[in-house]
Amino acid sequence: MISEIKEGTTKILVPKQPTKSVFYNPKMELCRDIDIAGVAAFVSSLPNSSRLRYIDALAGSGVRGVRVAKEVGLSVAINDRSTPAYELIKRNITLNELEESAKAYNEDANVLLLQNRYDLVDVDPFGSPVPFLDAACRSVKKLLLLTATDTAPLCGAHSGGLRKYDAKPLNTEYHTEMATRILLGRVTRDLCKFDKAVQPLLSYSKAHFIRIIAKVERGAKKADASMNRLGFIAHCFSCGTRFAFSCSDMREMRIEKNCEACDAKIRIAGPLYIGAIKEKWFCERVHEELCKREMGKKKEAGKIVETCINELDIPFYYEHHAICKALKVQPPSIAALIDALRSSVFSASRTHFSNTAFKTDASMEEIKGIYINLTLSD
Ligand SMILES: C[S@@+](CC[C@H](N)C(=O)[O-])C[C@H]1O[C@@H](n2cnc3c(N)ncnc32)[C@H](O)[C@@H]1O
Ligand SMILES: [Zn+2]
Repeated sequence: MISEIKEGTTKILVPKQPTKSVFYNPKMELCRDIDIAGVAAFVSSLPNSSRLRYIDALAGSGVRGVRVAKEVGLSVAINDRSTPAYELIKRNITLNELEESAKAYNEDANVLLLQNRYDLVDVDPFGSPVPFLDAACRSVKKLLLLTATDTAPLCGAHSGGLRKYDAKPLNTEYHTEMATRILLGRVTRDLCKFDKAVQPLLSYSKAHFIRIIAKVERGAKKADASMNRLGFIAHCFSCGTRFAFSCSDMREMRIEKNCEACDAKIRIAGPLYIGAIKEKWFCERVHEELCKREMGKKKEAGKIVETCINELDIPFYYEHHAICKALKVQPPSIAALIDALRSSVFSASRTHFSNTAFKTDASMEEIKGIYINLTLSD
């Protein structure tokens, strides 16, 4: 049974009950709202945005691609290898009178991506995007949009991170950010094979998924520069000390096997992306787009993007309650803690990855000192 729903300003036919042959997840409306705002922001930043081609390579009902055609006005290819899904995509194109700008395909995504070049490539699979990354990176010219829902191996909670992503995750308190960076690291290396460079514009995680919106640029020099944004994170599970170092630092620096602060063994995660995972101007533009558009999840989406705007470009965060537990102190408010860090010499911000965490350039020892001062003065 099929029913008609509305997302943004687009009408969509979806299965009433979840089926195996046609996929539609209403919980991902938030992600699609951010995508529409993101694609609109990106397109409006280009000097010439006419004749851009976008592909929704794993489309299910076609909701993402149909929305991009209808709400952003791009020319789109919408593909799913399931034939019932393909039939529904065609009906959704007709329902929105998009026959001129949208075309449905019933192919294997890799085949379509290997045969064609698209300006914007969207890969939204079940689980890991890795089986589609090589073809997506070959095809993409300007913007790559990727989802991963295999957060357990990416976070280090299950084995598989190493096998799929050529990277070792660690199950730290900031594993969601580590997962996002391991995925971005893999994308960096896959794009480099084609002399392309990744420039993340907005990367975020919510519930069970990670979403990356990244600009892609051509050129060997840019690709080399993107490889310099790969590195590792060293973590001490005993005292919580953590730091990042780049692959190029590794040639010069000797990584101590033991933590400088407490002498316990240090563990290393990576390789992963240690550069900025968002661009502030882009997040601000996405926020503006969200505010001015008719969207079901604009409030929640706006909150995520707003936090990303102000989030420090530091590749990990600190969980407030874990530190309070280790220090056996009553938790002050995160706002008070961030103020105290800023009143000392440090930078500090919230992080969209966790409501109960913060980012700072202070070391763990310095952070602990600030907690103690703050709780003593209460
Ligand atoms: C998570 S769903 C897509 C959801 C959709 N993008 C949305 O926003 O609602 C993944 C889809 O990929 C399709 N799929 C899986 N493997 C594929 C392949 N190799 N080529 C094309 N489609 C594939 C499945 O049929 C399914 O519809
Ligand atoms: Zn330590």
